[in-house]
Formats: sequence, C-alpha cells, structure tokens
Amino acid sequence: MGIVFIAAGLAYGLLAPAPPVLAESPDELPPNQRLIRLDEIHEHNRTADTYWVFRGDKVYDITDWVPNHPGGEVILRAAGGSLEPYWNIFTIHQKQEVYDVLEQYFIARIDPRDLVDGKAPTGQVEDPFKNDPIRDSALIQHSERPCNSETPESELRSYITPTEKFYVRNHLWVPDLHEADSHRLTIELFDGEEVVYTVADLRKKFKEYSITATLQCSGNRRSHMTQASRPTVGLQWGVGAIGTATWTGVRLRDVLADAGLDLQDPDEDIKHLKFVGAEAYGASIPIDKAIDRHGDVLLAFSMNGQPLPRDHGFPLRVLVPGHVAARSVKWLSKIVISDEESTSQWQRRDYKCFGPNVRASHPDWDSAPAIQETPVQSAITSVRRVQADQLLDSALARVYGLEEDSVVLEGYAFAGGGRHIVRVDISPDRGHTWLQAQLQEDGAKMGASGSPDDHRAWAWRQWRAAVPATQVSGKFCVKATDDSYNVQPDTFEPTYNFRGNLANAWHRVPVSRDDRPS
Ligand code: HEM
Ligand SMILES: *[C@@H]1O[C@H](CO)[C@@H](O)[C@H](O)[C@H]1NC(C)=O
Repeated sequence: MGIVFIAAGLAYGLLAPAPPVLAESPDELPPNQRLIRLDEIHEHNRTADTYWVFRGDKVYDITDWVPNHPGGEVILRAAGGSLEPYWNIFTIHQKQEVYDVLEQYFIARIDPRDLVDGKAPTGQVEDPFKNDPIRDSALIQHSERPCNSETPESELRSYITPTEKFYVRNHLWVPDLHEADSHRLTIELFDGEEVVYTVADLRKKFKEYSITATLQCSGNRRSHMTQASRPTVGLQWGVGAIGTATWTGVRLRDVLADAGLDLQDPDEDIKHLKFVGAEAYGASIPIDKAIDRHGDVLLAFSMNGQPLPRDHGFPLRVLVPGHVAARSVKWLSKIVISDEESTSQWQRRDYKCFGPNVRASHPDWDSAPAIQETPVQSAITSVRRVQADQLLDSALARVYGLEEDSVVLEGYAFAGGGRHIVRVDISPDRGHTWLQAQLQEDGAKMGASGSPDDHRAWAWRQWRAAVPATQVSGKFCVKATDDSYNVQPDTFEPTYNFRGNLANAWHRVPVSRDDRPS
C-alpha cells in the first residue's frame, strides 16, 4: 500500500496538472494532490449539505466549522465561493490564528484549468460596513469591520465614561437606522400574537427611568489570559472593554405588561426573553430578570442625556444591568417571549466558558450555561510615581500616613448581578503583602435606582491607593471582593477557557524602573 501511495504522489508530481491516475478514488489522496473543478465548489453553497469555500487555489470543507464560527451563520454567505472578498471586508479575519483555523479544513486544490494567474476568480460583494459611523481616534482599535475598539486607560478614570470614548463592541455592521420616532419594536407574545410599538409610542406611554450602569464585554482582559496562560480565540482586549454610563429609557417589565404578559402569574412554560437586533445579532435573558421589579432592565433610548450614538444602539437598545454586555442587545427590533433561549451563536455557543482542558475543536456546547451575570473583576488603570513634596497634605498621604516618595495606583472594580464591591486589595510586591485601596464615591447610590442595600449595585467602584516606593518590588497586583465574598482567582490557568471569556484573575502590572526605589 505504502508503495502505491508514494507512486501516486510521484505520478502526480510528474504529470501535473493532469489529475492523478493511480488512485482508485480521489478521496484517498492527500488534500495537496486532490483537484476539484470550480463548478463543483459552487454546488457546495448554502443550499447544500456540506459547505465548501476557497482561498487562493485551496479548497476547504468548512461544514464542521460553521457551528463553531464566532461570527455565526453570516459565514454561509461565502459558501460555494471565495472567502477573500469577505475577509477583505470583515477585517477581523486578517490574522494568523484565523488562517490556522482555516487550514484544518483543507481538502483539495482547485483544478489549474480554472485558475487565472494561479488563483480562482473571486468576484465582488457589497460592503455592509459602508455606512458605519466615524469613531473617536482615541479609541484603541482591535478590528475595523466589525468595529471593536476599547477605551484607553486614561479615559477609564472618570466615573462616567465619556460617551464618545466608550468602548465599541460590534459583532456585525451598524444598521442604517436614522429615524428614532418611527423605529418599530415588535413584541411576540407566548401565543405568537405580535404587538408593535414605535419608539415614539414607548416615550409617550411609559414612565421614564434612568440608571447608572457598567457594561462589560465578556472578553475584557482576554489578552491577560492569553499572555499568562495560552492562546485564546477572540479579540485581545486589555482593561478597556468596560465603561459606565447613565442610561435612560422605559422599564421592560412595564412594556411587557402593556403588551399582554401577566407579570404576577406568567405562564409556567415561559422561561426566556429573546432579543433581536436590526443587523441580525441575537441573545436572550431569563424571564425572571426581565420582569423582576428590582431587575431594572430598560429599553434605553439615551446615554448620558443624549440620544444613543449609532455605535451604541441608536435608536433603541436593551440595557440589562449586572449581566454581561452581550445581552444588552443594540438596535433592538424584536422581543420574543419564549420557552427557550435565543438560538443564536452568541447565546448557545460563543459566550460560554469551558474547562481548561476543552479544546476549541470539540466543545460540548450544551454542557455549559450561557454567561449572564458576571463574576467579580478589577483592574489597575494608572500607576504614577509621586515625590514626597507633591504628596504633602494630599488626602492619600493622610490616609496612608505617607511622608516619602510613593507610587499612586488607580483602577476600577466591578461585580455582576448587582453585587456590591466591598473591598479592593492592592499588593506592591507580587502578592506578599497587601493594603486596602480607597474606594471612591459610591456610584451605585447615584443612579435613580440601583443601590447596594437591595443588590442593585449596577455600576463599578473606582479606587485609589498609595504605597511607599521602598515597598515596591516585582509586580503590583489588584483583587476585589464583592458582597457575597466572591474573590478573583490569583492566576489564569485554573479558569483558562479557549474563548478567553471572563478573564478575571488578579491584574498584575510590572513595576517600571521609575516606580522602583531610587
Ligand atoms: C472558514 C472561514 C472562516 C473562518 C475560519 C472564520 C473565523 C473566525 C474567527 C476565528 C472569528 C473570531 C475572531 C475574533 O474574535 O478575534 C471570526 C469572527 C467573525 N467572522 Fe469569521 N470566519 C470565516 C468566515 C467568515 C465569513 C465568510 C464571514 C462573513 C461573510 C465571517 C464573519 C465574521 C464576523 C462578522 C465575525 C465577528 C463576530 C464577532 O465579533 O463576534 N466569517 N471568524
Ligand atoms: C447552489 O448549489 C446547488 C446544488 O447544491 C445548485 O443547484 C445551484 O446552482 C447552486 N447555486 C449557485 C449560485 O451556484
């Protein structure tokens, strides 16, 4: 057998480009030697049972990847044809880790008879991102199309994140919605009946509420997990995929009641509320959170007193405080009262955490719950060396009794589920010794609703600390504790998951030369 196999390879090498002759079936050849005509690839389009794509002169059978694709079913647009025009548009793919994924599905080369200059004709597709808004240049961009940009550390120091510097996490394009008042929200009741409200109706009919709430992407600090542990699939966010704003809108529970849902005694089979965005994104939350009078879920139309910017969901988004931001669906167009979770990629697959041993290729998707409330998190956003004379009389110097050159640290801490941050610990020496940070003004009390006493602490707490420069060695660490005494893991390995979700190990920042004792 082995000899026949080698002979087949040699025959191919000598006789190329004619198809090899010695094999009984082309399927037995290694992918490099299999040749496929373009017409056959075209047949493996989205209407077929198996999906093929090509890139350059290589053909890939991506059928098994489709359910694993972080971008969801939009991938099927490319089935039966070239990936290239799509990857030129969806720039998130232009990196080695994505090319590596693709190579796993390599099945054949395109028959040279169909190639022009060594490549198959790729064709043109329309750019769905052409009407995306222009973004603030201070944002740190991780991908352009879709736009994924984080807030720079300097802008994480204000309690309310400046609107135009608020991180942008888009899964697809920004839909072209320009009329606020006439935008329609359809609510599908459990019996299938639909009730429609325009944004103007919502404003007229229901009482307005404002809450100050932090939104955090499930990938916040993913880059720290990658650096400390192993590669993760996903955007490599730093500490800035988080921000706090005051959101104004109407209460979702009021709207659901008006539409016909019995809030006191809902049908027992009702378990979830699905949200659909105008661009195709979808996610869901448990019904109990949606109708809880202390849940504070809003249908929001403004952010920090202004209409929502297009990147943040204009003209209408859901705001689910205390839950991972992926559930606060933007450009809201439909709500479905349901007995099951949203069937979207972002509910059933992407935003989940698996054990450190589970590999990206074969997770048992249904074995893990979708991320809803998030665990306790903290980060250092600023490290400053301060001379003794500059420190004199400052509040920090008094609190910490400092009279010498010191290092001032600042950052944020946040827990999901309305859990209040009760303590933030700082170590100037890799975790050997600790001191307590000063928690800044308690933002949780500032919103119209949301307070620590009834587990409605929806916003982060910022903190400051100062340590004598002589005590600094190795790395600064921060960890926070919430009011259920949840703590952050000290290292990333135990909570490593291949998607790099919920990266919340202690944040460690190396001590720079300037911060060391002189
Ligand atoms: C076999 C081909 C493909 C592979 C291997 C692939 C792989 C990936 C990977 C690894 C990501 C995550 C990137 C990250 O978060 O850093 C991603 C995201 C994405 N992909 Fe693909 N992709 C493919 C084809 C496509 C096509 C053809 C489209 C569009 C027509 C597409 C649309 C998207 C979108 C919109 C996202 C972003 C999703 C999000 O932000 O959550 N992909 N893809
Ligand atoms: C899609 O595939 C089917 C067969 O699977 C084929 O009949 C049809 O022509 C293909 N469409 C295109 C546009 O190639």
